[in-house]
Amino acid sequence: MRYIDLRSDTVTKPSEEMRRAIADAEVGDDVFNDDPTVMRLEKMTAEMFGREAALFVPSGTMGNQVCLKTISHPGDEIICEEGAHIFNYEVATAAAFSGLLFHVVKGVRGVMTAAEIRPLVRPLDIHSPRTRIVAIENTHNRAGGTIFPLEEMEAIRNLADEKGLLVHLDGARIWNAHIATGIPLTEYGRLADTLSVCLSKGLGAPIGSMVVGNFEFVQEARRTRKMFGGGMRQVGIIAAAGIYALENNIKRLNEDHDNAWYLAETLSEIDGIYVDLDSVQTNIVVIDIAQSGRQVSEVLGAFKEKGLLAVQFGATKIRCVTHLDVTREDCADAIKIFQEVFEH
Ligand SMILES: Cc1ncc(COP(=O)(O)O)c(C=O)c1O
Repeated sequence: MRYIDLRSDTVTKPSEEMRRAIADAEVGDDVFNDDPTVMRLEKMTAEMFGREAALFVPSGTMGNQVCLKTISHPGDEIICEEGAHIFNYEVATAAAFSGLLFHVVKGVRGVMTAAEIRPLVRPLDIHSPRTRIVAIENTHNRAGGTIFPLEEMEAIRNLADEKGLLVHLDGARIWNAHIATGIPLTEYGRLADTLSVCLSKGLGAPIGSMVVGNFEFVQEARRTRKMFGGGMRQVGIIAAAGIYALENNIKRLNEDHDNAWYLAETLSEIDGIYVDLDSVQTNIVVIDIAQSGRQVSEVLGAFKEKGLLAVQFGATKIRCVTHLDVTREDCADAIKIFQEVFEH
């Protein structure tokens, strides 16, 4: 059976053209800084964000964790929103590998404000942990692909400068925020000290994320990447897919956003289903089925039998994500399956 796979934007498979780029890639040993394709990808990414340097890493988790480790000392404190990926879904690596203490803020649709963060910044005192990092997630996965407003990022940047903190951006889906808002990537690059951005989500590459920042930071991050086992060899074969993704798959994200909105609006009309339409800002739709009285596991089972895949997202919620392997017709078929399962 061919499934309509809305579990995540990570499920995309490399296209024929992307596979050709992979096959044709020039390679070398990247741990020796000898892989021309990786070097090209790194230069290209740094330029896109208006920064000095970038580093290719295998995953978004490694990207975030390499950044956090590189800019902190054990016992330092990191402030982030309570739904953040680095807090909930990265296997406590920031605590285990970097010794970071988390201080979380309950935001609204993934957005915390500078005013909420200000009182949490510790005074310099022999008894206190040292507040070191503020981490922003844009777009915010758990909140449903919501966009972190640029003005609030700017306010957090100013607060960080005032207090001597560093700003990390988990930009796994920063491309979606960029396309949905029209805000240049250089603006995001300007407001964060360190960034981790993913090639393997909406952009459709099979593997890979990029760490971005100034030259000195990226030099040090290269060392941390090696420490974490992320030094890779003839990895130009993967970097080539990343270059292809950056050159071809950013502008089209609008289609995913339109499809997500189509799904969200139509599904919200089904009895027993609630979709917070204000949170549908990019390619993620979170569907609350509490009012239907149905169990998520039972509903997902019924979907699967009919050819639709989605994931559980909390006790009563289902997450659907649109991506480049999902067409408008697939969304129409997915809606039909929802209707069959909920209206019969
Ligand atoms: C916001 C965010 N950051 C980081 C990651 C981690 O990426 P990876 O799965 O490549 O480790 C994800 C994965 O979905 C994510 O949604």
